[in-house]
Amino acid sequence: MLLTFFSLAALSLQVVCTSAQVVVNGQIFTNGLAIIDSPAPSSTLHAGSTTSVAIDVSGDGKLTPDAEAPSSTQSTHYDLLEVYLTSPEVNLTVSQGPGLLQQEQGSTVKHINWVIDTCIKSGNYNLTVYETSHIQDQPYFTITPLPISIENSNPTSSCTAQSNSVQPLPQTQSSLATSPWLDGSQTSIVPYPSATASNAFRGVACLWEGLVVAVGVVYLTYWV
Ligand SMILES: *[C@@H]1O[C@H](CO)[C@@H](O)[C@H](O)[C@H]1NC(C)=O
Ligand SMILES: *[C@@H]1O[C@H](CO)[C@@H](O)[C@H](O)[C@H]1NC(C)=O
Repeated sequence: MLLTFFSLAALSLQVVCTSAQVVVNGQIFTNGLAIIDSPAPSSTLHAGSTTSVAIDVSGDGKLTPDAEAPSSTQSTHYDLLEVYLTSPEVNLTVSQGPGLLQQEQGSTVKHINWVIDTCIKSGNYNLTVYETSHIQDQPYFTITPLPISIENSNPTSSCTAQSNSVQPLPQTQSSLATSPWLDGSQTSIVPYPSATASNAFRGVACLWEGLVVAVGVVYLTYWV
């Protein structure tokens, strides 16, 4: 009975929070195939230092390595995985092109040793992961903005290298409502923490709605 309650509560939370990526045991489950291991959402990073960006491309071991190539014959596979640092003012390349999926062959986790350029001013940014993939033969384009903040006490001249034009937000995507790797049995799902107040509020609202649904589930489980 208790187990039923927990799984139903977890499921309802997931249904309620479908628009948000979720963190389970420290991993960020995007609404696509990728699972981000690091950095953690809302991390404070420092310009001039190197940050490890780690992305699990195996769906926690559910995909075989040949699913990492656009030419894959698997019904579920990646086409392209790119990472950019974005804000209303800048859009800098962290990893562009097919390299990320091709590197570290045989490893389920792909790493970027990201040297944070000293041209980046202090402030809030998104480390945005763009995933193009096929999931059960259907094409998807999933954008995952991971909120981070960067500290820089001595910014150098404005960023020009690896700089791309900034596109309007929110950007158009076609993604699943939730990660295909989450089955609703996870009881530790927490909504995405965020560096911005409005997003934090959305998180609270989401939790609150989840609670209301959970109470409803308790009622149904015990009294009906
Ligand atoms: C990060 O992305 C979210 C969702 O698109 C957006 O609401 C937020 O303003 C972005 N933050 C920054 C600093 O660009
Ligand atoms: C950043 O630039 C890349 C490459 O041009 C583009 O695909 C992406 O949509 C851009 N993102 C934003 C938020 O401007």
